[in-house]
Amino acid sequence: MKFSIFQNPLNSWQGSSLLLGIFEEDIYEQISPLHSIINKDLLFEKIKKKNFKGEQGQKVNLDLLDHELQSLSIIGLGKKNNFDNDSFNNFLSAYIRTILDKEEKLSILLPWDDLNKNIIFSTSELIRLSAYKDNRFNNKRDEKNILQKIEYLKPNEIQVNFKEVEDICEGVEFARRLVSAPPNSLTPFEMARQAIEIAKVYELEVQILDKKKCEELKMGAFLAVAKGSDLEPQFIHLTYKPKDQEITEKIAFVGKGLTFDSGGYNLKVGASQIEMMKYDMGGSATVLGTAKAIGAIKPKGLEIHFIVASCENMINGSAVHPGDVVTASNGKTIEINNTDAEGRLTLADALIYASNLKPKTIIDLATLTGACVVALGNDVAGMWSNDSKLAKELLDCASECGEGLWQMPLQKSYQDGLKSHIADLKNTGPRAGGSITAALFLEEFLDNNINWAHIDIAGTCWTDKNKGINPSGATGYGVRTLVKWIKSKERI
Ligand code: BES
Ligand code: MN
Ligand code: ZN
Repeated sequence: MKFSIFQNPLNSWQGSSLLLGIFEEDIYEQISPLHSIINKDLLFEKIKKKNFKGEQGQKVNLDLLDHELQSLSIIGLGKKNNFDNDSFNNFLSAYIRTILDKEEKLSILLPWDDLNKNIIFSTSELIRLSAYKDNRFNNKRDEKNILQKIEYLKPNEIQVNFKEVEDICEGVEFARRLVSAPPNSLTPFEMARQAIEIAKVYELEVQILDKKKCEELKMGAFLAVAKGSDLEPQFIHLTYKPKDQEITEKIAFVGKGLTFDSGGYNLKVGASQIEMMKYDMGGSATVLGTAKAIGAIKPKGLEIHFIVASCENMINGSAVHPGDVVTASNGKTIEINNTDAEGRLTLADALIYASNLKPKTIIDLATLTGACVVALGNDVAGMWSNDSKLAKELLDCASECGEGLWQMPLQKSYQDGLKSHIADLKNTGPRAGGSITAALFLEEFLDNNINWAHIDIAGTCWTDKNKGINPSGATGYGVRTLVKWIKSKERI
């Protein structure tokens, strides 16, 4: 999709489809700039007849068949000082999805001066990501959207970095593709292959640790989960390190990468949606999607690590037993009282590995608990952090991107729930507060002096709703927030 800005006088503009946003105040004045394209008095009469007042979410479609401009859609933006970005976004996504297979080019005219200065950037992300389709696994795979061009009319002196829009959207779409791919296609090996591909294209360092190497590093928690699968585990580590630059900050992202989670011997039964568990690598998809975007954007002065311990949670004769005791790579022993709490086992060794790189900050993302989905639903991810500044930064970035994020407590009194009578700790606490004990478990495998945030995306990495920026399916949740956060750390 190509984005552009039309700065010339409107009388030289040509196009057949225009979307016009209008506030409630002074409607006539707001349509005046269109006088060189269309008879504004006639237009005013027409929209008055349709009782259009510019109220939030109100819309009028006009077919102007005798006119070069053939379709004009007008949307009400409500009161100037009460603009509701979410409703506007929902309208725009729905609109884009209706014209996707009809119009080749859409022009958009909004009262730019009265809107947020980043509106063109965020609107472009919204349009591209709303138009996303995934036909890799069906016979429409060669079909393309007809809508290919978006043009913004007459914003004054606005510079928009459309390349960055593209880089970020490629990252989000890459994450979506990883998550949607079925578990017989996206195996741990395939995930490693894709990571190597990213490294090649964007000149990142890459290291893939196979099972033997993980054994040497004594990653007993990660390897315990992988044991029940015929597929070998893959530990993936990408590094972005700008050349010839002073590094001012080191950051590590860690993602849960279960390409399938059957639950193991604590098999997922009943309503636990075992058939959806291909998306249990959502965290790693966000991390690799972010790696792709960061590789393209190349932020200055930052060294960024992307880490994924990828495997499947399956059942065979050598699978882990419920009750096994295993030793993580920092020497801590874990009683696996539930094989379905496997994500935190893989993350334990990944967090130890990340800690050993001595970063200032570690952020992990994981489809970790059903309890988080019960607490926050599908539009909001849960976030736990040992550092209030980091937590606030992430909340701010998420809110700017329109990604739902809510801070949850690292409630120390619940640590008792993870006490084991035989090992240093067990992997599962009581049902109540299940997403909190999961976070507390992870914290055990982290160096104390590292700023850390854990984001549980079990609810947000997938949607069935086809609403807003996310068509139904994988959302690519988190890529935009993480890229924004990284950019805020950049020293220019
Ligand atoms: N991958 C699941 C969590 C999950 C559940 C993600 C629903 C998306 C939707 C995780 O590995 C898991 O099974 N967690 C258990 C933990 C329990 C055994 C303590 C859960 O949430 O039921
Ligand atoms: Mn599980
Ligand atoms: Zn899982």
